[in-house]
Amino acid sequence: MDNKLPSLINAKKRSIHETEIQRDLFYVDEKIANLGSGKTCYLRTYGCQANERDSETIAGILKRMGFTMIDDEKTADMIILNTCAIRKNAEDKVFGEIGYLKQYKDQRPELIIALCGCMAQEEAVIDLIIDKYPQIDLVFGTHNIYRLPQLLHQVMITQERVIEVFSKEGEVIEGIPTDRFIKHKAWVNIIYGCNKFCTYCIVPYTRGKERSRLLSDIIKEVSELKENGYKEITLLGQNVNAYGKDLGYQDGFSRLLEAVAQTNIERIRFTTSHPWDFTDETIDIMARYDNIMPFLHLPVQSGNNEILKLMGRRYTIERYKEIYDRLKKVIPNCSFSTDIIVGFPNETEEQFNDTLELYDYCQFDNAYTFIYSPREGTPAAQMEDNVSYQDKQRRLSILNEKVDHYAKIKNEAYLNKTVKVLVDGLSKKNKNVFSGYTQTNKLVNFIADEAKIGTIIDVLITDAKTWSLNGKRI
Ligand code: SAH
Ligand code: SF4
Ligand code: F3S
Repeated sequence: MDNKLPSLINAKKRSIHETEIQRDLFYVDEKIANLGSGKTCYLRTYGCQANERDSETIAGILKRMGFTMIDDEKTADMIILNTCAIRKNAEDKVFGEIGYLKQYKDQRPELIIALCGCMAQEEAVIDLIIDKYPQIDLVFGTHNIYRLPQLLHQVMITQERVIEVFSKEGEVIEGIPTDRFIKHKAWVNIIYGCNKFCTYCIVPYTRGKERSRLLSDIIKEVSELKENGYKEITLLGQNVNAYGKDLGYQDGFSRLLEAVAQTNIERIRFTTSHPWDFTDETIDIMARYDNIMPFLHLPVQSGNNEILKLMGRRYTIERYKEIYDRLKKVIPNCSFSTDIIVGFPNETEEQFNDTLELYDYCQFDNAYTFIYSPREGTPAAQMEDNVSYQDKQRRLSILNEKVDHYAKIKNEAYLNKTVKVLVDGLSKKNKNVFSGYTQTNKLVNFIADEAKIGTIIDVLITDAKTWSLNGKRI
């Protein structure tokens, strides 16, 4: 078996040469072109938008090879799990699924099961798969998705298990086919990887160094999406504000955001922002263009400066509040959300209370809250921790009460107002109920005789719940 295995230590190394753009790495030989003809594939995606977008690439490659994508894992000829490693419970879910899939493999030995995504980049996971999960036939990582045709060919021809994971990222790889799952909203990668190395986080190891796509490639993609009827795009990166640093651009993100706005695509969002690289100019650009949505997701992680320091976040709460104050001053209707980790090693009750205090200050529209989960290979995983799991759970539920409290208040401010909603879909239960999002990223369920998916319509808000608004089309 000719395997290439991952190493977290190698993944940590950063080279400082300028990012290269590679346009001819993806190819499908004639002998491989019809490998998937008459065959079906079920692709399951865990984790963040980066994985969602990667799954669209995987589906694009598979379709190019003749596969048909289906939703039914019971009958599929191939099952691919695109995995997430961010917390232990994310990994547990995947191992549960792998265990569950064994029955199908026993019934149909010709079934191919593949695992990819961030878990594939972790050597501990690969060791386990090698030892305990013979049902997995193929493992590939986040850096070699473009090799899928060759890897599948190898698995199908040799009927042997193939593991190929590159610890070091490639460069920026353009020209891989994409099968977009949604036809009116699209993810657009702008920067891959992460150089931040927050001490708790596995992402810089699983996704490699920061590599930006060329501004011209991004604008071309957005313009094509617009021509094809797409109404909304979300610029994607682990830290979008670092966009262009590796290409020598000055405040590249603000420049890019402005150039994307000038394509006149109807709605622009971006995620995720990091306070460290965030510039005031970005807020000004958001304010200047109506098609940049008034919504900012800005993870804070903790409301205490000592904890932020231990987390390696490299900003202070004072700076965070400054960004928030400026945002609210320049774009008063902007909605604002965050991510928070409770129970970081040795977090005291007082430090946790600082997080609650910050929450009261910013009154977030929404927050994703997590209990700290040690990730093997990260610096925080080496820290001794005197906080019991019970305390962490208690803190999480106290915090979540606050999250719910402000979410409801923020939603109530929409009562009796008319909002613009991009229609996403129709309720399964009721053919007069549709759903979509406001400019400020609020989910709205609304009644209408008719509403076309992918159009932007006016909705009057009649009821505000904690996590959604109800309304009717006007
Ligand atoms: N790049 C983004 C977020 C990536 S991960 C950023 O920096 O904001 C999404 C969220 O998962 C993080 O914001 C953090 O709140 C959470 N997270 C990351 N590692 C974690 C860990 N080890 N335990 C618990 N939560 C974690
Ligand atoms: Fe992880 Fe920090 Fe990078 Fe976000 S910025 S992906 S939390 S290391
Ligand atoms: Fe998970 Fe990887 Fe995203 S660890 S959160 S899928 S970058």
